[in-house]
Amino acid sequence: MDRPITIAVAGCGSRGQDTYSKILVNMPEKAKIVAAADINPEKLAGMRRLTGIDESACYASAEEMLAQPRLADVMLICTPDRCHYAQAKEALLKDYHLLLEKPIAPEAAQCRELSDLALARNRKVAVCHVLRYTPFYQKIKQLLDCGTIGDTVNIQAIESVCYWHQAHSFVRGNWRNAGLSSCMILQKCCHDMDILLWLTGKHCKYVSSFGSLSLFKEENAPKGSAMRCLDCSVADTCPYNAVRFYLDEFHRTGDDWPQNVVAFEPTEEKLLSALREGPYGRCVYHCDNDVVDHQVVNLELEDGSTCNFTMTAFTAHGGRTIRIGGTKGEILADMKANTIRVMRYGEEDEVIDVRKLADDFSGHAGGDAVMVHEFIDLVRGEIEMSPTLTAIDRSVESHLVALAAEESRLDHGRPIRIS
Ligand SMILES: NC(=O)c1ccc[n+]([C@@H]2O[C@H](COP(=O)([O-])OP(=O)(O)OC[C@H]3O[C@@H](n4cnc5c(N)ncnc54)[C@H](O)[C@@H]3O)[C@@H](O)[C@H]2O)c1
Repeated sequence: MDRPITIAVAGCGSRGQDTYSKILVNMPEKAKIVAAADINPEKLAGMRRLTGIDESACYASAEEMLAQPRLADVMLICTPDRCHYAQAKEALLKDYHLLLEKPIAPEAAQCRELSDLALARNRKVAVCHVLRYTPFYQKIKQLLDCGTIGDTVNIQAIESVCYWHQAHSFVRGNWRNAGLSSCMILQKCCHDMDILLWLTGKHCKYVSSFGSLSLFKEENAPKGSAMRCLDCSVADTCPYNAVRFYLDEFHRTGDDWPQNVVAFEPTEEKLLSALREGPYGRCVYHCDNDVVDHQVVNLELEDGSTCNFTMTAFTAHGGRTIRIGGTKGEILADMKANTIRVMRYGEEDEVIDVRKLADDFSGHAGGDAVMVHEFIDLVRGEIEMSPTLTAIDRSVESHLVALAAEESRLDHGRPIRIS
């Protein structure tokens, strides 16, 4: 293709604007943002400044943008979870290729429908399972595929969400309530289900799961606590104090994430007002949250091999670790430390420092930028479907497994067969 492909961005928040658009404006020879939609005028103003698009190319909602004739080759769908299905369906019917944020949709039938529609209309749809594109998981996949530890028999994976990230996103924030987004294991951990299936290259046969919301609820509120941290007499001793999370962090690190989620282009005044009135100033024991704060999932794969996955809020730091047991060796890897220890049975251990394998570890440990570049190259016809690319037909299985895990969790761990 000898012209930049054109892009319309639906949802100009953290992902649509701060992540993907900032990557796209740095590759003008390959891609050009030509339209944007957001229900928040401040975010659209930000997009105009970032991309130089005209006011006439800005729409007050994705729905309004989708009501126009096709405006671009590609649409990025980066709106809240519950918007994805209807917007993606409409965009496919308008023949856009899609970079679609996860989750694809909150229900299994909707995920399958979008996958079938993409196939029927011959559209390229990549789901933003960014972890696959990180140097960390790429290296592990390469080690497994070339038989370094023989056949994979068992995996233990842990996602440490971290106490403050749980409070920010899953107690006070946009993903706190399954009715507003979807269950935690789908919206947060479809990434992990995807990674387990992709690394093993196997399909899942059975799933079982346990988990609950144990801490962040009314009955656990400390004596003397208030509805908002700004009014709270015990805030100083509370690890979830929003003033410490956002205001103190703003003074320390500036307008970074997550302060810029609490207030767009934050200032001290904007943050104080958000803490006084907005969702992020609420006491973590007095929110309308219902998603779990810890969950374990067991998978039995098609050949009898097994995986165990744990998601937990109760960690001091965020990150993912994975232990993979094979017939000829073991891999123990820590994404935060960016190290992979390869232990071939009967041989010396080898430690791989992933930081030496790439230059850019920004944005999901380097995954965001690689994914955007691969997707753009795919739409431009410069690469064929790569084994990493998270095409929608491959991504649906992670969603089906996550939804089955939730069904099992709600039924005290009853095993669910994946059809
Ligand atoms: N792939 C990943 O690792 C990853 C990480 C974080 C979030 N996400 C997903 O990305 C999506 C966006 O998350 P975010 O963190 O950017 O949230 P965000 O709230 O920062 O951004 C969403 C934006 O959509 C806008 N919006 C809401 N309704 C709209 C509509 N009808 N039309 C147009 N715009 C609308 C909001 O005003 C907001 O600016 C979510 O589905 C989330 O689950 C994925």
